[in-house]
Amino acid sequence: MDKKQLIERLNDDLALEYKSIVQSIAHVASLKGAALQNMLTELQAHLFQEIDHALTLAKQIDFLGGTPTTEVPAIESWSLAREALEQDLALEQNQLERLRQRSQDAAHAGFPDVAEALSPVLAQTQDHVRELAQALGQQPQSAATTAGSQ
Ligand SMILES: [Fe+2]
Ligand SMILES: [Fe+2]
Repeated sequence: MDKKQLIERLNDDLALEYKSIVQSIAHVASLKGAALQNMLTELQAHLFQEIDHALTLAKQIDFLGGTPTTEVPAIESWSLAREALEQDLALEQNQLERLRQRSQDAAHAGFPDVAEALSPVLAQTQDHVRELAQALGQQPQSAATTAGSQ
């Protein structure tokens, strides 16, 4: 992987963090129900972490000489609260796998400092996956079980 490819992939990762931000705002603002209160509090905490994730990625892209994207991917519609949380979980799982890969990509491309900068983002994404999976009564999938699903 060369630097240009790494920048492109990081920009796709950045766009997904924007998606997390917009999707979380939509979900936190409109999901209702006493049973959801704890999850909504967690989602709101995630939201502010997503801003950090986006900023971290944008800074790495700039550091590599790229231009951080400003494109926000479309958000899927939902009708049931469970559907909304399933969308959040699917997005986080996708991000977790992508960030694991990106960390390796950065190291292989000769940018261990970029790989290190991604590490707190990766750890928080893992927490998000676990919290959402727990709220949905699912076991978080391990890397081994999801590796072939992409
Ligand atoms: Fe994130
Ligand atoms: Fe997240």
